[in-house]
Amino acid sequence: RSTRFYDFKLQTMKITKLCNTRDIVTVNGMYPGPVVYAQEDDRVIIRVTNQSPYNATIHWHGVRQRLSCWSDGPSYITQCPIQTGQTYTYEFTMLQQKGTFLWHAHFSWLRGTVYGAIVVYPKTGVPYPFKFPYEEHIIILGEYWLRDLVQLEQATLASGGGPPPADAFTINGHPGPKYNCSSNDVYTISVVPGKTYLLRLINAALNMENFFAIANHKLTIVEADAEYTKPFTTDRVMLGPGQTLNVLVTADQPIAQYSMGMGPYMSARNVPFQNITSIAYFQYLGATTNSLALPAPLPSFNDNLAVKTVMDGLKSLNSVNVPKEIDTNLFITIGINVQKCKSKMSQQSCQGVNGGVMAASMNNISFIKPNISLLEAYYKKINGYYTEDFPGVPLKFYDFVNGAPNNIPNDTSSLNGTRIKVLEYGTRVQLILQDTGTVTTENHPIHLHGYSFYVVGFGTGNYNPQTANLNLVDPPYMNTIGVPVGGWAAIRFVADNPGVWFMHCHLEIHLSWGLSVAFVVKNGVGELETLPHPPADLPRC
Ligand code: C2O
Repeated sequence: RSTRFYDFKLQTMKITKLCNTRDIVTVNGMYPGPVVYAQEDDRVIIRVTNQSPYNATIHWHGVRQRLSCWSDGPSYITQCPIQTGQTYTYEFTMLQQKGTFLWHAHFSWLRGTVYGAIVVYPKTGVPYPFKFPYEEHIIILGEYWLRDLVQLEQATLASGGGPPPADAFTINGHPGPKYNCSSNDVYTISVVPGKTYLLRLINAALNMENFFAIANHKLTIVEADAEYTKPFTTDRVMLGPGQTLNVLVTADQPIAQYSMGMGPYMSARNVPFQNITSIAYFQYLGATTNSLALPAPLPSFNDNLAVKTVMDGLKSLNSVNVPKEIDTNLFITIGINVQKCKSKMSQQSCQGVNGGVMAASMNNISFIKPNISLLEAYYKKINGYYTEDFPGVPLKFYDFVNGAPNNIPNDTSSLNGTRIKVLEYGTRVQLILQDTGTVTTENHPIHLHGYSFYVVGFGTGNYNPQTANLNLVDPPYMNTIGVPVGGWAAIRFVADNPGVWFMHCHLEIHLSWGLSVAFVVKNGVGELETLPHPPADLPRC
C-alpha cells in the first residue's frame, strides 16, 4: 500500500458566473476542488491550511475512518473548526474501500463551494466487475448561489423561515446554457462513437436532491455510495446530496451533441426551488458543436415513483453479510416542525409557518451543536456539553407497541438539546428511519458518518414489522439513504468503529434546523478496537 499526500489550501477566489463577479471559498483556487486519488488500502494524508476568512473543516464523505474518528471532520462533532491561519492534517486509510466519494467542507454552508471528488481505484491487478471502460469522467452536481454562504445560513436561521432557492444548478461548476449569461459556461465530455464510459456521479448540492439523465442514452448503475451493485439499467437516476453513483454509458447513438441534464427532485409541498435544468454536453466526436442538443428526459420535480424505481434497482453485487440478529433496535422519526418565535428574534417577524421558527428533529429532539468538539468532550471526559439520553423511540405523540408505531407519527413539537446515543462496541443495530412532519413531509437523505449500512428495506407510509419485507440477502451497502417521502427505511450495521459519529439529513437547511443526532461507539478490547489518542495539531475551539 502507498501513502498519498495532498496539500489543501482553503482560500477565496474571484469567480464570474451568471453575470456576477464575487468571492467564493475554494480549495487551491479550484471550483470544484481538486480530486483526491488513491487505491484501496492506501494511507491518505491531507494537510488543510485555512487561508479563508471563515472557520472551516473538511469531511471525507463515505470514508469509514476505521479507528480514525479524529479525521472525520464535522465541525463541533469530531473537531473544533480550523481557524483562519491554522493548519490541521487529516490522516486515514481507505481500508477495504474503493470507488467514488465526495469530500466537502463541514462548517456552516461552506460546502456549497468547497467540495470535490475522491476516486479510489481497486488494488493493482484487481479488475472491475464490469467491462473496463474506455474512459472515465467525474460529474459533480451542485448548486450555485449569488450569496455568501455563511451569511446565507445565518440570515436564513434569523428569518425563522426556509432558504431561498439556489440561483443555478451546476454540473462540475458550470450552470449550462439555460441560465442568464452562461451560454458558454457549459461542461462538455467528448465521446468516441461506440465506446463505453464510466461516469462517476456525485451530488454536492446544498439543499436539493437531483435527477440526472442523458438524452437518448441509458445509464447502467454499477456502484452506489462506493460499493459495487448488480448492474441496473435505467433512463435516469436520482442522487441525494452526498450520494455517489457510478454509471456506465455507451455512445451507441447517431453522431450528435446530446444534453446531460440535472434537475430538482423536490418532494416537499410549497417550498420554492430552482427549477431550471442545468445542462452539460455529451458530445460525439465528429458532431457539430452547435447541433441542437436533445433535452435529457428528466422526470418532473415531484416524481416519487421515478425515485422508487432507482432505489428498487439497487442491490449489492453479491450476497452480503447482513447482521441477522439485532441487539439494539432504534426507531427514529425525522420531522420538520415549527417552534415558537423566540423573544430575542422579536424585532424580526418570524417567517416560519404560522409566524413561528422552522425546526427539524429526530425523535422530537432538535440537535443543538455544542461549542466544543463532542469527540474531545467524550474522550477527555469533559462534562456538561451533552447528555446521553437520546430516546430510542420518539418522545412525543406516539403510541409505540411491539416495536412498531400504532398510530400516525406526529412531530408537532420538538425540544432542543445535545442528546447522544451510546452504543457498546460490537452492537448489532437496526435503525428504522420514519419520515413524519406536521409542516411537510419529504424525502430526506440521511447520512451516517463512520459506517456504511445495509439498506434492508424501505417503503411508503408507516413502518410495520409485519408487512416490511426485509432483504437480508443482497441489500445495497450505503452511507446515505433517501428515506421516502412520508415513508420509512430500515438500515443495519455493526457498531464496531469507536468514536463519535454524526448522523444527519444531508439537506443543509435541515442540518441547520437540527435534523441530526450523534452516536458514541465505545471502545472494544485491545488496540484494534480502540480509538487512538487525538493528534497533536487538533484544532481548539
Ligand atoms: Cu457529507 Cu456530515 O456529511
